[in-house]
Amino acid sequence: MSDLCIIAIDGPAASGKSTLGFRLAESLGYLYFDTGLMYRAVTWLTLARGLSAQDEAAVTRLAEDMPIEVTAPSFEDGRSCDIVVDGQDITWKIRQPEVDANVSIVAAYSGVRAALTIQQRRIGLRGRVVMVGRDIGTVVLPEANVKIYLDASAKERARRRYDETLQRGGTADLAEILTKVNERDRIDSTRAIAPLKPAADAVLIDSDKLNADQVFEKALSLCKR
Ligand code: DC
Repeated sequence: MSDLCIIAIDGPAASGKSTLGFRLAESLGYLYFDTGLMYRAVTWLTLARGLSAQDEAAVTRLAEDMPIEVTAPSFEDGRSCDIVVDGQDITWKIRQPEVDANVSIVAAYSGVRAALTIQQRRIGLRGRVVMVGRDIGTVVLPEANVKIYLDASAKERARRRYDETLQRGGTADLAEILTKVNERDRIDSTRAIAPLKPAADAVLIDSDKLNADQVFEKALSLCKR
């Protein structure tokens, strides 16, 4: 594979993109970059500063100036990187329910997407990267060498989120998670700019009927082709 190799993985929430992307990057010796965390960081910063996620102008200004640092993990607590904003480690804070509830609204703003896409493209074009998101193969890096669209039914994805929450010691309601997954799918796939959809040249993998190892083997063979 060339040094400039770019692997794009897109798909809906909880389809297993992060697990797959992280494993692929580790196995290929590439950088793993989850672009969702940037949208989450803007959302967290919005709420932390007492702003409303509905205030498009203010949220866009934050996205344009956000002092975000993404570095190698400094704790072995399941994180794939450290995310520091305003001097605070927000790696787990960006997974809180308030962020989940507002991130799709923030991610639909054109100014926010423009600001974050520039940063994502700059990182991606260095190559040797596995970039995960919703619009990597369609908008951020249409020149990617391998494009994977990882899908799974909403029911299966909700069940995975439910299991993850319990494993981290939290409590959860499966029906409520399913409602939220459906709502995020609706917003992500119907927004006017960079909606969630497979690139015309993406390979679709349905993880409903495959376990994590099978998904990984299938994706790795595409990368090595
Ligand atoms: O993958 P995730 O759940 O962490 O993504 C959080 C939100 O960010 C989700 O609503 C979709 C959005 N997102 C996006 O619009 N474009 C990306 N490239 C990555 C995430």
